[in-house]
Amino acid sequence: MRKQIAAANWKMNKTLAEGKELLSEIISADFQLTESRHVLFAIPFPYLTATSELIKAKTNMHITAQNCSNKTSGAYTGEVSVSMLKSIDINYCLVGHSERREYFAESNAILAEKVNLCLAESISPVFCCGEPLSVRDAATQNEFVELQLKESLFHLSADQIKNVIIAYEPIWAIGTGRTASAEQAQEMHAHIRSVIANQYGADIAENTSILYGGSVKGSNASEIFSMPDVDGGLVGGASLVATEFIQIINALK
Ligand code: 13P
Repeated sequence: MRKQIAAANWKMNKTLAEGKELLSEIISADFQLTESRHVLFAIPFPYLTATSELIKAKTNMHITAQNCSNKTSGAYTGEVSVSMLKSIDINYCLVGHSERREYFAESNAILAEKVNLCLAESISPVFCCGEPLSVRDAATQNEFVELQLKESLFHLSADQIKNVIIAYEPIWAIGTGRTASAEQAQEMHAHIRSVIANQYGADIAENTSILYGGSVKGSNASEIFSMPDVDGGLVGGASLVATEFIQIINALK
């Protein structure tokens, strides 16, 4: 059975004290995380260790990096390698968030390198894909997302792809308050699953978690997560408010 995942993406927000307070409030809430329900917190680099400490007694909760370098080590000032992440027991990392693609020129080819490095260190990449508004308006979103998957993931073996989580985040729905409708999310998630099935077979596709991201809130999470191919969400703004994110965790199937 594939995992249902509520993933918080704090982006570049919160001081350490604020972040610890937020995390403490969320993890002290009364919710049940079974083997198939997981929570990820993608947190700024400087707080990965301190926040890992806070959740260490919790099962099925994982501190996640928001990015990693596409280089292994060396003279790359300001970069953070996957082996550094592994050395502080980080097992998940966002790869290819649209903000990284847009503001830091991360191409599908660079993201393929990051995915490879993560997997080599047994870090599960949360691979983000999704189209801009111009592509949605031209109704070519299926081809656009398919190319992102093909160029960054489809060189992987079947054993490797099993460790990848996919997050579909239509760029026009990120931070805009304009959520994709549950039907639009389902349509794209079903497409992504069928593309994975064509490449790797139905069994692997069935077991791949595909998260939706883009203006997920406490009030719309249940409807979106109830779609058969939506396995939870990657959440920005609403993950910074404890009551909202708790509601989102509780909306997982
Ligand atoms: P919002 O939830 O703020 O729209 O952000 C989505 C996102 O980019 C999560 O990675």
